[in-house]
Amino acid sequence: MLHGQTAIISGGMGDIGRAIARELARQGAHVALGDLRDPADVGGFLRELESREVKARYDKVDVSDAAAVKDWVAAVEASVGAPSLIVPNAAVVTPANFRTVTPEAWTRELRVNLDGAFFLAQAATLRLLDLHKPGRVVFVGSWAAHAPHTHIPAYCASKAGLRMLMRCMALELAPHGILVNEVAPGYVDAGLSGRFYEQDPKLRKRALETVPVGQLIQPDDVAAEVARYCDARLKHVTGHVQLMDGGLSLLSAAFRGEDA
Ligand SMILES: NC(=O)c1ccc[n+]([C@@H]2O[C@H](COP(=O)([O-])OP(=O)(O)OC[C@H]3O[C@@H](n4cnc5c(N)ncnc54)[C@H](O)[C@@H]3O)[C@@H](O)[C@H]2O)c1
Repeated sequence: MLHGQTAIISGGMGDIGRAIARELARQGAHVALGDLRDPADVGGFLRELESREVKARYDKVDVSDAAAVKDWVAAVEASVGAPSLIVPNAAVVTPANFRTVTPEAWTRELRVNLDGAFFLAQAATLRLLDLHKPGRVVFVGSWAAHAPHTHIPAYCASKAGLRMLMRCMALELAPHGILVNEVAPGYVDAGLSGRFYEQDPKLRKRALETVPVGQLIQPDDVAAEVARYCDARLKHVTGHVQLMDGGLSLLSAAFRGEDA
């Protein structure tokens, strides 16, 4: 259980971000969410979290702005408590292959998915180090970090970079009681890929037929894994990639039918 701890979640109003917030609040953590939405639009969700008798806070913050992220972490510490459960989760994706991806789209994906995750992880763990407190960082990565997808190379590169950041941080922070891991989902039936499936139901059908376990991942499944890596009883696992792709990585790209 996570009573008395404060979680900070970027992209906290997205499909997976909200599921993580619900699960961590259910386990007793106070929850601070950051996203791009207008604060006026998130009151209902904050009240839902508060019904768990935890504190809930929302800030409109663009994770690609390092100074804004530092201010966000400071504001959360002042009002809710220093975050000890740090979940860099915000991400964007723009379908475009290597030949067609624009410099702007490339830069945006790297800025949000990789730089933004770094800014949050660094700002929050530096405070834990100052306070001599232990903590957990759980990056929401992707199986795209190791499986090439020709239609989203910028996203793949951003998630591959995130994975190495995770490993470097894990090694540096282990002696300070801060464990750093990654949860790496495959095909999720919501969020970034869910929107593709809504636009083209054939894609969802193909995903379902391809994934060896025959099921798409739900946001709650990702949230359960993130919560597991926040659990204080897990004391010896750091630098680990928790792959949850239903066996997709066991298939070749050609068999998955993704790569031409
Ligand atoms: N949905 C999938 O199939 C899938 C698969 C593997 C991994 N993931 C990962 O799960 C995480 C959550 O994605 P999701 O599927 O819930 O998508 P989502 O779009 O529902 O959530 C992402 C959230 O990030 C926010 N965001 C985007 N840019 C931001 C910025 N600059 N600053 C702050 N917030 C920003 C968005 O507003 C959104 O609320 C991502 O890291 C994604 O890469 C998703």
